[in-house]
Amino acid sequence: MSDTRPIKLACRNVWKVYGRRPGYYFDSRGYVIDPDALAERLRAEAHLPAVVDATFEVATGEIFVIMGLSGSGKSTLVRCLSRLVEPSAGEILFDGKDLLKATGKELIELRRHAMGMVFQNFGLLPHLTILGNVAFPLKIQGKPVKEREARAREMIALVGLEGREGSYPHQLSGGQQQRVGIARSLAVGPELWFLDEPFSALDPLIRRQMQDEFLRLQRMLRKTIIFITHDMGEAFRLADRLAIMRAGKIVQIGRPAEIVLNPADDYVAQFTEDMPLLRVIKAGDLATPLAGASAPDQSVAADASLEELIPRLASGVGAFAVLDTGAGAPALLTASSVLAVLEREQKRRTRS
Ligand SMILES: Nc1ncnc2c1ncn2[C@@H]1O[C@H](COP(=O)(O)OP(=O)(O)O)[C@@H](O)[C@H]1O
Ligand SMILES: [Mg+2]
Repeated sequence: MSDTRPIKLACRNVWKVYGRRPGYYFDSRGYVIDPDALAERLRAEAHLPAVVDATFEVATGEIFVIMGLSGSGKSTLVRCLSRLVEPSAGEILFDGKDLLKATGKELIELRRHAMGMVFQNFGLLPHLTILGNVAFPLKIQGKPVKEREARAREMIALVGLEGREGSYPHQLSGGQQQRVGIARSLAVGPELWFLDEPFSALDPLIRRQMQDEFLRLQRMLRKTIIFITHDMGEAFRLADRLAIMRAGKIVQIGRPAEIVLNPADDYVAQFTEDMPLLRVIKAGDLATPLAGASAPDQSVAADASLEELIPRLASGVGAFAVLDTGAGAPALLTASSVLAVLEREQKRRTRS
């Protein structure tokens, strides 16, 4: 399944280096040596390369997840994307325009109108009601009271907090507070939605509910999303594509199935070895073109997990027509390709 949607955000060879003289390492011609060698040299010379040569593109309407252990540079990278942190080198293109060339004024406008942000610690204003918090970004935009309150009420209803408009943040649970954070970030109707570990402070059960809620919202809103997490299960659950970071560097980018089936190195393989293959891999991931053959009678949606297919395989179905692959015509999924994954999973289990 190829993605033909237009690129909303492109990040090209972005570096963020902390230290006394980061500029020294990046002249106007750009760095010339190998990124790994440069990162090593920076470390040797008392600099911290928090983001190392990050390159990726995010398509309009895509959920792009950045995953990595704590300290791997995720927050620094996502802040570079909105220039809350100034990159040391590289290019960031938003709708094709270089953000690093935007003036301070243009940036403020972009952040106010085109970007929404949600953080781990909610970041609500304690002295404002829920309504006041959600309406706040619109107040900053200079919208009239009536308009901003109407919009805020709409967003509060969207996240399921109708009736709590007059409450204060401390009167809500963590999960509810983050719903307010989400409503607030959506109030301006952002084109780019950044979420930096939004559910990491919540209990596992609530986290799970919030993930479902987030996916529900995204099905309606179709935002372009950069979602940061250190939780692998969360990453694999939410991502259309994901990037895995290690010590500032993106070590692999791919769809969840690509990453579990073809990990780029031992690090990624180890990192992802507990991800259940049958759940992560979808029918569409294994589908091949029908190539003139007639479609099997039994059909399945491209986004159905292999796990969901097991009962039907057990009852003797030999092949499925895969629908909604994005390619128009249905594709073919054979029982043997599903069984091959099942066998691979079995081997992983007996090894560990
Ligand atoms: N303002 C700063 N000054 C110096 N070092 C920083 C700064 N912000 C982050 N770092 C360092 O950059 C690295 C990446 O941090 P961060 O982006 O917060 O990682 P993550 O979000 O993946 O946990 C860490 O080693 C962190 O200590
Ligand atoms: Mg972080």
